[in-house]
Formats: sequence, structure tokens, C-alpha cells
Amino acid sequence: MSKDKVIAIDGPSGSGKSTVAKELAKALGLLYIDTGAMFRSMAYMADKKGIPMTSGSEMNSFLETLNMEYGVSSDCLIRIDGEDLTQKIREHHVSKLASIISQIPEVRTYLLDFQRNLAKEVLCVMEGRDIGTVVFPNAFCKLFITASVETRAQRRLDQLKSNGDQNVTLEQVIKDVQKRDESDINREVAPLKQAEDATYLDTTDLTLPEIIEQLSQYVRDRAKDAGISL
Ligand code: DC
Repeated sequence: MSKDKVIAIDGPSGSGKSTVAKELAKALGLLYIDTGAMFRSMAYMADKKGIPMTSGSEMNSFLETLNMEYGVSSDCLIRIDGEDLTQKIREHHVSKLASIISQIPEVRTYLLDFQRNLAKEVLCVMEGRDIGTVVFPNAFCKLFITASVETRAQRRLDQLKSNGDQNVTLEQVIKDVQKRDESDINREVAPLKQAEDATYLDTTDLTLPEIIEQLSQYVRDRAKDAGISL
């Protein structure tokens, strides 16, 4: 069976996987797909519309009429019902809501279809929690990226501060990261888990150029094995 033309990158929040996925896509000239942004956007919009964050008829009607667009332009990553959510979804409170909405099976089914459709035509780097296990179990290349909790929390804090959120402390972010990990790992549907055939990478002590250099070669080798031209 031929492999899906997807580089699947999974890992916990703050592991550096988004930066790695983005840079790797750039280095290889591939489309970058951030699935966390989809859960975040859905959470933002459901909250704005007052939809309860549980399975049920209100969530179903919300999903039936939802118009999500990904990769609209170079400055607009994601839009729902015409509203550009690129910046709004990075706020601290949206992270919590995204973790809650990501546990609803109907939401995951909606995004599973959406993600598979997006990757139908083009070679891409897709990052999330369940890409190598559920969305593209037949991907030609799978990576599982992580880092220590302290490193991940510090990275998240730096990101929040650069987005103007000055009131958050490191202790608070460490607690949030641990809580989010626990719910991502233990949820019933599509939990965060390393695929058996994924390569594990701990980024705690590595620099970004080192990681990208190693991974670019690794991906080229996997593509060659799978008969895929990059
Ligand atoms: O990667 P992120 O922090 O932007 O993800 C936001 C939330 O969405 C996080 O709680 C995990 C969830 N998520 C998921 O369940 N499955 C994915 N493929 C991507 C993200």
C-alpha cells in the first residue's frame, strides 16, 4: 500500500513542534498545517456564540453550519464564518477552551475530515496530537517531538508575553501545561500518544538549526524509501 504524502508531527504543547514543523515545511518547500489552530478556532467561536462545550444538539447545529477556511493568505491562517481568528486564538483563555472542545467526539470527527481533505492534493507537514496515530496512520514520515515540562512552560510563557499577556507567571504556566498534558493524554478519543513507527525527538538541549538540519535529511531518506519525490 502506498504511503500518504504527509509528514506527521505530534507532541505535547510547548514541545517546540510548531516551530519545528513550520521551519521544516519552509526548508523543504511544503505546506504547513497547524491542526491545533483548528481546535482553538472552533473553541473561540463556540464560546463567542455561547455554545455549551459538550456533545449535544447545540454543538451539532454549530458544526453543521460552520464555515472553516485554513491558509487563507500569508497573514490569515484561519477564518471561521468570515472572521479572521489568526491572532485571537493565541490568547491564554483560548488554550483552555481548546483543550475542552478537543475532547468532544463530534468536533474531532469534523476536524478529521477537514484535515484529511486539506492534505489530499499536496505534500504537507501536519502537526497536532493524533496525526500519526489517527488522522494519517499511513503517513510516510512520523515524528514525535517533546521537551521537559519546565522548558515547554518557559517557551509558552515567552510566547504569551510576546503576544502582550504580561500577567501570567511561570508557575501558572507549568501548572497549565501539566493539566493540559494530562487531559490530552487521558482523553478517550484520539489521545496524545506516540505512534509505534514514529521517531522520538527531545528538543530540550537542541538548537533549532540543529534540529532542522537533522530532520530535513531524515525526511528526505524516508521519502526516498517511500518512493515520494520531495
Ligand atoms: O497545539 P495547540 O496547543 O495549539 O493545541 C490546542 C489544543 O487542541 C490542545 O489542548 C490539544 C488540542 N489538539 C488536539 O486535541 N488534537 C490535535 N490534532 C491538535 C490539537
